[in-house]
Amino acid sequence: MKKGKKLYEGKAKILFASAEKNLVIQHFKDDATAFNNQKKANIEGKGILNNRISEHILSSLKEVGIENHLIKRLNMREQLIDMVDIIPIEFVVRNIATGSLTKRLGIEDGTVLKKPLIEFCYKNDELGDPLVSREHIYAFEWASVLEIDLISEQCLRINDFLQGMFKGVGVKLVDFKLEFGKRKSDGKIILADEISPDTCRLWDADTDKKLDKDRFRKDLGNVINAYQEIARRLGILHEQSNNIRPIKFSKPKAVKIKKNK
Ligand code: TMP
Repeated sequence: MKKGKKLYEGKAKILFASAEKNLVIQHFKDDATAFNNQKKANIEGKGILNNRISEHILSSLKEVGIENHLIKRLNMREQLIDMVDIIPIEFVVRNIATGSLTKRLGIEDGTVLKKPLIEFCYKNDELGDPLVSREHIYAFEWASVLEIDLISEQCLRINDFLQGMFKGVGVKLVDFKLEFGKRKSDGKIILADEISPDTCRLWDADTDKKLDKDRFRKDLGNVINAYQEIARRLGILHEQSNNIRPIKFSKPKAVKIKKNK
């Protein structure tokens, strides 16, 4: 598909116009940032892995009836997606306390939550994506009561599905961030952005080793190997195409996951 003009450049992705009305091309960069752009690096191959991992997850979600912006993957770094107006809220779903939750409230790192916790953050880099309440969202008309109810319900369904999917391959889904938007073509609210080790915390089920962007945030090393490990366990990276020396995290789980066409 022919790429049109650049519409938007974010920290990890670029959006280009496509030949089709209301569809855009999402390009995954190798750039990684943390702490709202204060820490930056280029991690070779990250964009390729996130493109594949996000495609796998979003198409699996579509199969179980969770609508999202993915139309199809176009190539190693790009996918065709529905154009949406992003709701300026990051929806964070947590199963285990870690990261900003433990810092903010003094909860012990690794505390398993009795039920999933949904947090709302206002999407604004300059302000550091501050935590907001439903009341802030309604007061500033970032979304309506109905929309937040619908999105919260979807967040829990997505969490259920992803927890099961990752559990099957020996990974704990600790927490993750979702974005939703209004599809240009019909105004429907759908899941958008990406779901990848950039936007999730994923711990090896046996060892609690981190297999996500925290390896970059916390300078733990082996960032790309961790992303590869997730792709491999999900069945989307063949052993032979892996030219970067794998690191040993734990015994890989022998669970079969349906391969993408
Ligand atoms: P936090 O503990 O730093 O608030 O992060 C919660 C989850 O959200 C974690 O899985 C990482 C993800 N996340 C993003 O995807 N983008 C962000 O900008 C931030 C702050 C977190």
